[in-house]
Order: sequence, then structure tokens, then C-alpha cells
Amino acid sequence: MRKRFAVLTSGGDAPGMNAAIRAVVRTGLHLGYDVVGINEGYKGLLSANFRLLTARDVGGIIQQGGTILGSTRCPEFKLDTGIKNAQAILEAANIEGLVVIGGNGSQTGAARLAAMGFPTVGIASTIDNDLLGTEISIGVDSALNVALEAIDRIKITASSHHRAFLVEVMGRNCGYLALAAGIAGGAEAIVMPEVPMEPQAVIELFREAYQRGKAHAIGVVAEGARYNAASLAQYCNAQKDKVGFDLRVVTLGHVQRGGAPGAFDRLLATRFGVTAIECLHDGETGALVGLQKGQIVTTPFALVAGKTKGVDPNLVRMIGMLAA
Ligand code: ADP
Ligand code: F6P
Repeated sequence: MRKRFAVLTSGGDAPGMNAAIRAVVRTGLHLGYDVVGINEGYKGLLSANFRLLTARDVGGIIQQGGTILGSTRCPEFKLDTGIKNAQAILEAANIEGLVVIGGNGSQTGAARLAAMGFPTVGIASTIDNDLLGTEISIGVDSALNVALEAIDRIKITASSHHRAFLVEVMGRNCGYLALAAGIAGGAEAIVMPEVPMEPQAVIELFREAYQRGKAHAIGVVAEGARYNAASLAQYCNAQKDKVGFDLRVVTLGHVQRGGAPGAFDRLLATRFGVTAIECLHDGETGALVGLQKGQIVTTPFALVAGKTKGVDPNLVRMIGMLAA
């Protein structure tokens, strides 16, 4: 019997997960392993919801968003009993290594499984870009481009009507998507958890833009900011005379997670997938595969799991200079 590795996707889906699954399966087969797909993340692991994946099963998926394996959030896996059961189920199925494609919570689970002695490798995949051990995770670039397209479109209608817009983007507790979309989208205001900002400051930024003769003002708001877009809008609307512009709110939400992965995410996911299997093959486990300075690297789970990455202060310091 050939040795078997398994792969699962967990947490919020991210464009590029399928490209990673494809790379894991085809690299595994290339190196002489069978690869088992675990449906529906840790939930599927705990119910042994497995299927053997062939090279054909992962054909035609590199360009598809989402994940063919399905993804869930699974509270039972957070319990010690959940981790123990998972290890027993994997061993009973003769699986000798696991690749976990997912974000922060998923990698925390992967780290706990690895700490129990089960060979586990993580692949950084979350649109939030909050994982330590990688400069960028699978899905971030594609999600960012969706947000940018929306912002570009909103600017057009905003200019026609001389309006301000608050555009809320995802990111959970991390402001990266808001910061990057705000800078690349030329926003007048960026509101995120890492840089506390009172509603009055947003009103000031919009008013200054109005007074400088701008036809529109865009505020990009991270969903995890202390004041989300809806509550900021309440403040602004209560002081309409000060803002100058009429104001509208757009919440992008899950739109950012859908859609096809771009070239960057397909390549990143493919490189991560190949490396993850090579790590299992070489017995280098208990680590997260990520990107640092253009190179694919692995970082021990102990250094990254359960922690979150802050935003780049160099990007933050640019905000005030650019919206002139
Ligand atoms: P993401 O991986 O995208 O950050 P979540 O934080 O929702 O998404 O985590 C996905 C899943 O990972 C959870 O539903 C749970 O099954 C598992 N997980 C999260 N935190 C832990 C933990 N501390 N220990 C074990 N498993 C965890
Ligand atoms: O972690 C990815 C993410 O899209 C976050 O940005 C967001 O807060 C969360 O998942 C939404 O989760 P759900 O899909 O369960 O609504």
C-alpha cells in the first residue's frame, strides 16, 4: 500500500485554495503518495469524511475560487478531545501526514495536532492577511482586487453626485485589507483597528476634501475597527452640515471572498502546495509554509500559531500624505 497524506481547507474560504489543493495532490502523486481529500475542514476530519483524490479530480480547478473540499468552522476541534479524536481517526485511516490550508484559527488547530505528534504542515490562506510567518497569504491579492474594483466604481458614482462613501471591507480584527485597499484606491480616510480614530476625525477628513474642491470622498473602513461603517455614518449624518458631502455606505462583505484567484494567488498557492508536500516527504513538519522576501519559507508553528501579525507601519505612515 502506498503511503498516504491528507489535505483539508478550513475557516473562511480564500481565492487560491483550489490551486493549493491541486498542487498538494499532484505533488503528492508525483512523489509516490496517495492523497486523501478531507471534506468540510475539521468537521469532516472528525467524521472521517474522506475521499481519495486523483490527478483528474483536481483538473480544471486552478482558476476556480472557493474550495472543492468545502470549508467549515468546527468548535469541537478546539477541545482537547477533538484533537485527540482527529489524530486517532487519521491514524486509523493510515494517513501519515496532513496539510491544513487555512487562516489563523485553522493553523492554531494544525499546531495543536502537530504538538500531539501528528505530522502536520500548514499553508497560509486567508484574505485577512493576519498570519505571522508570511508576508502575504493565499487570497489576499484577489480579495484586494475585488475591493479595489468596487472602490473604483463607487468613486465614479460618488463624483457624479458629489457624495462621500464609507466602504466597509472584511479582515476580521486586522486592518490590512482596509489599509491596502485604501491606499491603492486613493481613499481620503482609512479606518482600522490598529490606528484608533474617532468619528470626528473622519468628519474632518471628509470636510477638508470638500473644502479643497474634491468631487467625492471615500473612507475605507475595516470591519474590525472600533467604529464600523454603519456607526460612523450615524455620526456623519448627525453633523451633515460639517461633512459637506451627502453620505452613503457600502459593505463589501463576502463579495471579497468570492470570485476567481488572480495570477498572484494561483502562483503563490501552487508554490505553497508543492512545498507543503515536500516538507511532509522530508519529515519537516510542525510548521507553516509562507512567503518571506519573495522566497517560500517554513516557520515552526510554535513561533506563529495563535498570534496575529500587525500592519506595516510604513504603509500606515503614508496615509496622511497621499489624500491631498
Ligand atoms: P480561520 O482559519 O480562517 O482564521 P477560524 O478562526 O474560524 O478561521 O478557525 C477555523 C477553525 O479552526 C475553527 O472552526 C476550529 O475548528 C479551528 N480552530 C480555531 N482555533 C482553534 C484552536 N485554538 N484550537 C484548535 N482548533 C482551532
Ligand atoms: O477570516 C476571513 C473572513 O472573511 C473575515 O474577514 C470575516 O470577518 C469572516 O471571515 C467572516 O466569516 P463568515 O464567512 O463565517 O461570515
